[in-house]
Amino acid sequence: MAENKKVIESSSGLNLKQQNAFCDAQGDISGRKDQPVECLGLKFVNDAERRKYFLEKLRYKLKDHEFRSIEGFPIGSDEDILALSDPPYYTACPNPFITDFISHYRKPYEPTAAYSNVPLTKDVRQTRDTLIYSAHTYHTKVPPQAIVDYIQHYTEPGDIILDAFAGSGMTGVACKLLPKDSERHVILCDLAPAATFIAATYLDPPLPTAFDHASKRILHSAQEYTHNLWTTQINGVSAEIEFEVWTEIFHCPHCQSNIETSTVVSATEEIGSAKEFPCPHCNGMVSKAPTKASGATRLERCLHTRFDEALGQTIKYVPRAPLLIQVKDPRHGRKKINTPLEHRKKLESLDYRSDFWFPTNPLIEGERFSWKDCLPSYGVTHVHHFYLPRQLKSLSCLWHMASSLDDPRLRRSLQFLVSSNALGCTILNRFGPTHYSQVNKYFSGTLYVPSVIAEASISYVYSNKQKRLVKAFGEMHESNRTKHLLIPS
Ligand SMILES: C[S@@+](CC[C@H](N)C(=O)[O-])C[C@H]1O[C@@H](n2cnc3c(N)ncnc32)[C@H](O)[C@@H]1O
Ligand SMILES: [Zn+2]
Repeated sequence: MAENKKVIESSSGLNLKQQNAFCDAQGDISGRKDQPVECLGLKFVNDAERRKYFLEKLRYKLKDHEFRSIEGFPIGSDEDILALSDPPYYTACPNPFITDFISHYRKPYEPTAAYSNVPLTKDVRQTRDTLIYSAHTYHTKVPPQAIVDYIQHYTEPGDIILDAFAGSGMTGVACKLLPKDSERHVILCDLAPAATFIAATYLDPPLPTAFDHASKRILHSAQEYTHNLWTTQINGVSAEIEFEVWTEIFHCPHCQSNIETSTVVSATEEIGSAKEFPCPHCNGMVSKAPTKASGATRLERCLHTRFDEALGQTIKYVPRAPLLIQVKDPRHGRKKINTPLEHRKKLESLDYRSDFWFPTNPLIEGERFSWKDCLPSYGVTHVHHFYLPRQLKSLSCLWHMASSLDDPRLRRSLQFLVSSNALGCTILNRFGPTHYSQVNKYFSGTLYVPSVIAEASISYVYSNKQKRLVKAFGEMHESNRTKHLLIPS
């Protein structure tokens, strides 16, 4: 473990000198480095001093028992909370600077000024197909352009806007899209630390060139580290795997044999339209979702038992078999091949350990948790059960690289990159035989585990995303007109 860590630090290419170079570039462009800054009425010689001052205040506040007892306070150590935070603008916990923020930016109350505003009655239609909107997924996200009209109609320049259920922070992004000289201040709250983390990156994006440089490096380093897992031999030549198709191994209800065939793939192309097919062992008609008219019998899900090293206990899991691989053949380009036997043996020998940290939290029991056909019936009871062993090793490595940078803004943007497509690296990622790309093919808004999944490599999942984020961060910088933000969770 210690040895592996050493390899990573030297192979990541992100040594201290280079990290500092990124940070210097960050500061130069944003005007925060080595230039005096003012924050909530206090003057600092540069932005690093501002951060240091407020981090100390937050550190002190975290020792306050009453503060930590606020309902919904995130579960995390002081160091974890401090590492994510960039106070006073963003704290990964209830924001203790909110009173200072309001005192600083509020307009004096004028009791004689009558307030009246007619409702905004116009149709607002905006596309979701923008670089900024699609930079990071979040449920029930609203296109920021759709919020701009409301802000302009209901508020005045200089007002403080509160979105107490801010999610990914699109109200804050909308404030940044306002025309010059019509700046608003904005307070964004959300119960979910993940939401404020996403919002914080949207509202304080990295310098695009620094992000481009750092993200390419961590992707490259993670690929190097996991290279052996994502290559296979074709006629003695090593080929890079883009994705691997896995099928759930069902039981035949007639003869009890394992059904492990690509027929399952073609028979489950569409949800709810599973076709019937004959069992390859006994010819009995089977289907994943048989209709009455078909006369077929429903395939049986079988759960196997394994020892979960991370939990230190035995667990149930759905057995799966690798069927197909899409490779980049050095001579013939991109093609799909049947998974070679040797390669399958290699995958089957992988354990669920990693050289790097990964989350093992239990899933939260919700109203749908114990329903038939919900996650526990697939053996998914903890976060790490969403990953196949190779993906667990790969993604935990990439997350480690992203989290290793010193500069908080750049580090957050790299973690934003990793988390933006992380769902597409789980067993929720459905294989679409007719889809050109297999990236992010999970069903949004639900935790549906398909029978046939595509396990895709880091470079396949993140290459295009990296390029799009560079552009998105560029656009966000251009529209960076709202300077004062506060994001308490
Ligand atoms: C409909 S979403 C908002 C999405 C947002 N419009 C966006 O642009 O991403 C509602 C949000 O309310 C948050 N929420 C639910 N209960 C809350 C509470 N009691 N306090 C703060 N936030 C809460 C949820 O975590 C969720 O992110
Ligand atoms: Zn059979």
